[in-house]
Amino acid sequence: MEGEAPAEPSLENMKKFLILISGRGSNMAALLKACRKGRLRAEPALIISNRSQAPGLEAARDYGVRTEFVSFKDAEAGEQRTIDLAREVGAEFIVLAGFMRVVTETLINAFPNRIINIHPSLLPAFPGLHAQKQALEYGVRVSGCTTHFVNTGVDTGPIILQRVVEVKPDDTEDTLSARILEQEHALLVETVNLLADDRLHVVNTRIVNISRN
Ligand code: GRF
Repeated sequence: MEGEAPAEPSLENMKKFLILISGRGSNMAALLKACRKGRLRAEPALIISNRSQAPGLEAARDYGVRTEFVSFKDAEAGEQRTIDLAREVGAEFIVLAGFMRVVTETLINAFPNRIINIHPSLLPAFPGLHAQKQALEYGVRVSGCTTHFVNTGVDTGPIILQRVVEVKPDDTEDTLSARILEQEHALLVETVNLLADDRLHVVNTRIVNISRN
């Protein structure tokens, strides 16, 4: 085998997944970019936004990925439509990337331990909205970001990976958010690859035996 180049990841054999967004979509774009560069071991098959004017939709189209607007005003109908679309494209898991809705059992039961979220704090500290502002106001010295499986709570599901970001004395919400966001992008790619490789096993509320290489 000496001298043989490692096989290029091929989209053909990869698991497919959905990305749900509500806004800017920079985490989504990080996944699409990683995929384009051959650094993602799963294929983003469809981007769904619950806001028709989300800037992330335009970015997704630039990458040539299919997009859909799905209204979640009626949560049950929105989740059912999402499940139907997931089945249609053959998606095996779902990534919430700045999706500003709490999901219900309808979606969770259709994808048990197959929905992940990214959050801009070291959970369980500072769940919910404005996590970076909460961290600054509390006066913590470090914050960061977390990927976790989604349950019906607000940012309460089993933690997958975390990255630490130092809080500087002169940080504003904007400067801290920007440094955390940079880490979010890398963390999300890493987490999707673990999921793609079936390396995440949830036992009760914890994930055991993550082998990272
Ligand atoms: C990110 O900070 C993410 O952690 C949080 O919402 C923000 C979305 O940003 N859930 P983007 O839309 O991915 O740029």
